[in-house]
Amino acid sequence: MREFDIINFENRLMANVFAKRPVVITRGQGTLVWDVNGKEYVDCTGSYGVALLGHSHPKIVEAVCKQAENLISCHASLYNNKRTEFLQKLMSITPTGLNKAFLSNSGAESVECAIKLARKFTGKPEIIAVMGGYHGKTMGALSATWDKKYREPFQPLVPEFKHVPPDNLEKLAEAVTDKTAAVLLEPIRGEGGVRVPPLDFLPGVRELCDEKGVLLILDEVQTSFGRTGKLFGCEHWGVTPDVMCLAKPFAGGLPIGITVAKEDVMSSFKVGEHSTTFSGSPLVCAAGCAAIEVLVKDKLAERAATLGAYFKGKLETLQAKYNIVKEVRGLGLMLGMELRYDVRNIILKTMDRGVLILEAGRNVLRFLPPLVIEKEQIDKAIGVLDAVIGEEEK
Ligand SMILES: Cc1ncc(COP(=O)(O)O)c(C=O)c1O
Repeated sequence: MREFDIINFENRLMANVFAKRPVVITRGQGTLVWDVNGKEYVDCTGSYGVALLGHSHPKIVEAVCKQAENLISCHASLYNNKRTEFLQKLMSITPTGLNKAFLSNSGAESVECAIKLARKFTGKPEIIAVMGGYHGKTMGALSATWDKKYREPFQPLVPEFKHVPPDNLEKLAEAVTDKTAAVLLEPIRGEGGVRVPPLDFLPGVRELCDEKGVLLILDEVQTSFGRTGKLFGCEHWGVTPDVMCLAKPFAGGLPIGITVAKEDVMSSFKVGEHSTTFSGSPLVCAAGCAAIEVLVKDKLAERAATLGAYFKGKLETLQAKYNIVKEVRGLGLMLGMELRYDVRNIILKTMDRGVLILEAGRNVLRFLPPLVIEKEQIDKAIGVLDAVIGEEEK
């Protein structure tokens, strides 16, 4: 099918909820993707933070093909060898104490599970999230998400959610009541503009939650799997949550959501109180096993730290050069560049020149490349960005 037809059919047949870019991607390898006309792009979006191992990693392809021939689906009411293997590998990397998981299919679902778990474990209804936070768009997750353009059309949302200013321990402490079940936060707010909290914030939240008997849920959907230079974002601050939400990269590109919790917390669910048909499917778990093996063996978290510092340094040189660049932020290969105006035009122009970049809100460019990105590919992205910003600033 031709590019024009694909774009038309997709527009006509699929719900019109995505801010589409006029490009048809048909192939990917590592950090590169190609469109239907054979044009090459450096993918600094990593499929919205999914392709941390790069596109079509050979170990994922091998694991998926092998498992597909053997067994694709197996409901979690039956035991399965690949599911067990995946759970063991997962627990070998999760922070100590987080050792019981619920497996699902997406980030929002991992958050839904965490919300239900907090209410069930504590017997209390209230969840405190932060202004600027993002947790997905299903009704429970949306109730924790801040942006009013996502929330307002769907009100009333789930009751007993409240939002406090971000990175503000005092306001958070004031908001906790005897109805509070949990505090739900991203360690680094991704969609909210790649915002890293001050050093003492997360340890302070942990202390507050312990003092008040409130659960700490960390949404690590975007900050885990080595992305920030550590396996999990919370490790930068030496904080372990009671519940952690994972998703995007954990099955090498296949759909997955994981809610991992302390054993007593997860054990508050009784049979039938939570489930999903595809929980821990053998195909996804086979991909997940391969993904975790590559992550550990290839030391991708360390790689993210090194290459992230390189990438950030290059972005900072653009900041020094151009007045329209306001700030560069982030950790590892989770980077943001705040401009003084709307980034949409820049994103379309860099795409034209073979570099895919994400936005985070109206005026922040967000970089979530695969952790296997090469220095030369970073240089190419920076070169294109330099040229495009240079034209915009004229
Ligand atoms: C921090 C965070 N939580 C939750 C989600 C929702 O994940 P999904 O889109 O897989 O439902 C996202 C998605 O970008 C996210 O970044």
